[in-house]
Amino acid sequence: MATPTSNLRIFPAPDQLCRAAAAQIALMISGHQGQRFRLALSGGRTPELLYRILATEYAAAIPWGKVELFWGDERYVPHDHPASNAAMVQRSLLDHINIPANQVHPIPTGAGNPASDAAAYQQTLQACAETEGELLRFDLLLLGMGDDGHTASLFPGGDWLAERAAWAVASRAPVPPHGRITLTFPMLNAAHHTMILVTGEAKQQVLQKIFANPTAAASRYPIAMIDPQGEVHWLVDSAAWPEAAHR
Ligand code: 6PG
Repeated sequence: MATPTSNLRIFPAPDQLCRAAAAQIALMISGHQGQRFRLALSGGRTPELLYRILATEYAAAIPWGKVELFWGDERYVPHDHPASNAAMVQRSLLDHINIPANQVHPIPTGAGNPASDAAAYQQTLQACAETEGELLRFDLLLLGMGDDGHTASLFPGGDWLAERAAWAVASRAPVPPHGRITLTFPMLNAAHHTMILVTGEAKQQVLQKIFANPTAAASRYPIAMIDPQGEVHWLVDSAAWPEAAHR
């Protein structure tokens, strides 16, 4: 796990964190030389504020026509379900920006079988990869961290953590919705840039362990098993990383 504090920025509150993330994302997309900017989105609560900022303050500033959107994970529910990450991105971002529909790739959940939909998503990812047979490398991967140290839907203790061939697999969460689909470590670690957004006091204990002893943490917390080829940027709010807790 690459956890150099040089890539760690701490913010007073989620609002400032998401505004800084939005500004960094806008710069990366606008400055991107390639034809497509491949952005993988994370789910959950924290990024929703980020997507709303992108949708309002950057709707015109970002050349969305060159962005291709993917998801790092999905809850195995219909896309109109309140817990759906696809639904969350639709209402917080996609309803407010102009991006070609064929450049938006939500994880399917309609087959009634997570493994089948995970395999279908892998085919989508493979079709979008620049070079046939090679991993699709996201230009930017957004990740969060649960208070158990999970990331995407790679929860502690599952055989999905050892998956090195498939790009997307079914997994299970200890909290509902239990059924999940998640990208695997090979896919996550192929990203050129990774931005990990962590907010809230519930994350404090795990975050402290990860930064105090990354090697030990990498045997226990999936987020600490992330070791991308590219750069890792941690954006953390003070509730999750209070200075007082680290003296
Ligand atoms: C999901 C996410 C998940 C999330 C963490 C942190 O589908 O829930 O992909 O990995 O990033 O649970 O969520 P919060 O940022 O909302 O605490």
